[in-house]
Amino acid sequence: MLDINQNFLKLPGNYLFSTIAQKVAEFSAAHPQQTLLRLGIGDVTQPLVPAVIDALHAAVTEMGDAATFHGYPPDQGYEFLRSAMAEHDFASRGCDISADEVFISDGAKSDSGNLQEIFGPTARIAVCDPVYPVYVDSNAMAGRAGTFNENTGTWTDLIYLPCRAATGFAPELPTVTPDVIYLCFPNNPTGATVTRDELQRWVDYANRLGAVIVYDAAYEAFITEADVPHSIFECDGARTCAIELRSFSKTAGFTGLRLGATIIPRDLTRGGVTLHSLWARRQGTKFNGAPYIVQRAGEAVYSEAGRQQTAAQVAYYLDNATMIREGMSGLGYEVFGGINAPYVWVTAPAGMTSWAFFNHLLENAGVVSTPGSGFGPHGEGYLRLTAFGARESTEEAMTRIANV
Ligand SMILES: Cc1ncc(COP(=O)(O)O)c(C=O)c1O
Repeated sequence: MLDINQNFLKLPGNYLFSTIAQKVAEFSAAHPQQTLLRLGIGDVTQPLVPAVIDALHAAVTEMGDAATFHGYPPDQGYEFLRSAMAEHDFASRGCDISADEVFISDGAKSDSGNLQEIFGPTARIAVCDPVYPVYVDSNAMAGRAGTFNENTGTWTDLIYLPCRAATGFAPELPTVTPDVIYLCFPNNPTGATVTRDELQRWVDYANRLGAVIVYDAAYEAFITEADVPHSIFECDGARTCAIELRSFSKTAGFTGLRLGATIIPRDLTRGGVTLHSLWARRQGTKFNGAPYIVQRAGEAVYSEAGRQQTAAQVAYYLDNATMIREGMSGLGYEVFGGINAPYVWVTAPAGMTSWAFFNHLLENAGVVSTPGSGFGPHGEGYLRLTAFGARESTEEAMTRIANV
């Protein structure tokens, strides 16, 4: 009889967003007259920009003609997109990354989950707390997290990097030596960032100990401040210790199209092997490439018009973030994030847990949020609000919260 992967059985309860969906469904059933405003899940609401739509149409036309039809894409991605990324995301910021170090994918979620396949089974994993849950759960599925302790909300074998208000929700260097460190800035869920100097400390630390940093830059397009790095490769020495994840989801509204990339410098070696070659082998075996039309759409993001239009869309969401930040702050709430990120992290009123604060906003304002405790124990006492709504619903949500 088949022995299933027992690690799956160690995963706790429901996925956070399923639990929220269930609570919201129950509330809606009990209060059918109440319209809900969703400031919870981090999905975008604005349509794809015209430059992307034009590129999609053109690519679809190509696919309908035998002379220009495209079958299986190269599993590392088309050269036209890898070159556009190398030029605009890296060379333009002084980062030494070549097109053949870019692996195109169907998004950063799958890459962040799959990437751990190239790490050994006993690799010690460090994650921030609170954290984007995929890093934790994918390592738990592979048996690297140990067992989940329901009382503490932590896994026995993970190294947690607590992120607290006192440090602006930036993690501190661990006291136990990790092999892999997941970092994400601008951060989901806290909206926090680190400066270039702070990130350099992590790069120096990883190089000193031989650790590898998996740097999730999914929200880099939201950076507004000059000393916040857009890529870990802006730091000296990152080529020998870092892998970067990129996503088109929030940058250009591709959550429904699906496109991302993982950057692995050829200088990154462990055990005498380049991680680039391992990932190339993994992708070559298990991934058949992102669709041609989507990669053409991705290329259009880097055109003159695409860059202007997507920047305007990011600015639209950042205006929402400002509205949420200032609105909540004006009501006396303590707020973080929302300046270089589409997420605003709000401290729950004294004595309220994350879930109590979530229920309070749902029941009294019809506003759906995300309880901070769902992202890890250090998220307890906080709530995440997202700026991805339409302007009118964000305004309406703020008015309703003010009237609670
Ligand atoms: C930190 C982080 N990384 C990755 C992703 C997923 O990106 P993608 O849509 O490219 O899979 C998200 C989405 O919410 C995220 O918050």
